[in-house]
Amino acid sequence: MSRKVIIAGNWKMNKTAAEGRALVEALKPLVADVCPGVADIVVCPPFTTIAAVVEAARGSNIKVGAQNIHWAESGAFTGEISASMLTELGIEYVIIGHSERRQYFGETDATVNARIKAAVKAGLKPIVCVGELLEDRENGNTEKVIGTQLEGGLAGLTGEDMANVVIAYEPVWAIGTGKTATPEVAELTHNFIRCTLKDMFGAEVGEGVRIQYGGSMKAENAAELVAQPNIDGGLIGGAALKAESFSALIHNAIAR
Ligand code: 13P
Repeated sequence: MSRKVIIAGNWKMNKTAAEGRALVEALKPLVADVCPGVADIVVCPPFTTIAAVVEAARGSNIKVGAQNIHWAESGAFTGEISASMLTELGIEYVIIGHSERRQYFGETDATVNARIKAAVKAGLKPIVCVGELLEDRENGNTEKVIGTQLEGGLAGLTGEDMANVVIAYEPVWAIGTGKTATPEVAELTHNFIRCTLKDMFGAEVGEGVRIQYGGSMKAENAAELVAQPNIDGGLIGGAALKAESFSALIHNAIAR
């Protein structure tokens, strides 16, 4: 079964609305040749930049996502954003459970699970982040940690729900550090994630879920990562903040 490549830029807390619009305007001509059937290109700006980016991306092959979502439909949740607020803007994807949210904002597998359920109910496509700390890897706990994140985060979802879910494997020690997991090391963990998905949802569903790699992915290493059998794309931080570097990465990734 062939899975379509998905390359998503996580802009994190970068780019004002004006800067985000300019980035998308610069990116559009650079990626216009990428067939929508070959790869999904996604950008995930901060909330306040989403509307400008949706407008700039209209009619192009660039899709837009958010970086978080709350599980309630509305109510007394100061500082949070609901599914309907996001769908009204016309976005398609939402990153959930990024390690920075787990590390700095108290995100747990239970809150990740609640956010994923709200997203799929609203027709959004969650990009669910999992990944181990350096000490987990050094202690031989990578699979235990990721297995727990998957089982807790995806609890109660159906195979049908999973058709819209993307998993992003982001080893925390590789994020923003310049230290990429080698393609072989990343592939071993991607394979473990796929086996876990097959155990949880059955072979056919598990085979269809796209699994992105994230962590210091750039134009130079994208091709060899995405060439691995279970690496279906990337979730990109730093290299997604400039049109040229993001476009070069996308082109190298799909040249596999
Ligand atoms: P970098 O590409 O900057 O390492 O960030 C990866 C990431 O956290 C994407 O979500």
